[in-house]
Amino acid sequence: MTSCRAQDIRLTERFRTAGQGPESTSAFDLSCCDGRIIADNDERRLAPDRVVNVMGSGAARAQANVALAKYWGKRNEALNLPYTGSISITLAGLETFAQVDFDASLQSDSLELNGVAAKQDEARKLSSFLDLIRRQSGVSRRARVELRSNFPVAAGLASSASTFAAFAAAATRAAGMCLTDQELSALARRGSGSAARSVFGGFVEWLAGEADDGTDSYATQLAPPEHWDLGIVVAVTAAEPKAVGSREGMARTAKESPFFPVWLQVHDADLEAVRAAIRVRDLALLGQAAERNCLAMHAVALTARPPLLYWNPGTIAVMQRVWSLREQGVEAYFSIDAGPQVKILCPMEQRDAVADGIRGVAGVQRVLLSQPGSGVQHVEVG
Ligand code: DP6
Repeated sequence: MTSCRAQDIRLTERFRTAGQGPESTSAFDLSCCDGRIIADNDERRLAPDRVVNVMGSGAARAQANVALAKYWGKRNEALNLPYTGSISITLAGLETFAQVDFDASLQSDSLELNGVAAKQDEARKLSSFLDLIRRQSGVSRRARVELRSNFPVAAGLASSASTFAAFAAAATRAAGMCLTDQELSALARRGSGSAARSVFGGFVEWLAGEADDGTDSYATQLAPPEHWDLGIVVAVTAAEPKAVGSREGMARTAKESPFFPVWLQVHDADLEAVRAAIRVRDLALLGQAAERNCLAMHAVALTARPPLLYWNPGTIAVMQRVWSLREQGVEAYFSIDAGPQVKILCPMEQRDAVADGIRGVAGVQRVLLSQPGSGVQHVEVG
């Protein structure tokens, strides 16, 4: 292992230019780290040479993602370890900015989400995540945290993914921790499972892993954003937070749906089809697998007791419009995460036509245009 200190100086230079060059597709490239994953339940301090230049402050931005083969069910709830692997596309433009300052004058963490003090349950989650970083880095100070997203949060637009990816990057930076991309992904996973994928840009697979401690459950990039010029249209059909969050929704489904074992059985084939489709850029194969997997996830959620229905009438109207566009020869396919918003995949040259077709659908409040985006990026502070 080479010294983290020398590497850190080069990194500081790189952070200064973040956002000025072509989009970076990955978070860090720390050759100083030996690629060993910190055991997820190992909350002891990192070796001293892996905690460098505790700067006190760090800032980063990360983007949401849409899952094409979905994560729905945890084999370990405390560590956010999934039963299955999942694959997503990182969404350009749907972004969360995080700034973290460890400040000796603070008595407790000060946590702000979109300009408003975090509610009790949010604050508990954010502070526990900071505790994880404090234990690993040895930094004991409380932190001032500011998180800002430019899209509806907690409404099925994967805000927890971009939030915890950006938060993990900013906080570890502030604490001077020297992590590989994989380690950052595994750490972001502890905040929210889908955040493991938002650490990377483009087309991303989160490996379920088998180890009880989660050391082999992190995301990896299948292909960079420029691999495939896909258009993505997001139909926002509600802006308010969903009634049942993903954590509770998947726990209830795993425990209470008689079809949960079937979901696990069919998921593997979808995962394989999505992976293959990305490799050869086959939109029909990708879209059909993504729609199938999405409908299976929502079907299994619907059969939980009490049932989970994440859709509203606008969601269904958009799904039907996508099917009718397809009958008219437009290559459009939908996916829906745990909320009422619909994400539509199409060739980039048809993105505007698809967006126009969706804008007129009853119940659609906003249409966002996206495409495969970049991984987490540090922002120079101060
Ligand atoms: C339907 O990652 O939000 O979007 O790990 O409990 O924070 P927690 O859940 P979260 O769940 C995402 C579920 C999903 C599918 C997916 O993103 O793969």
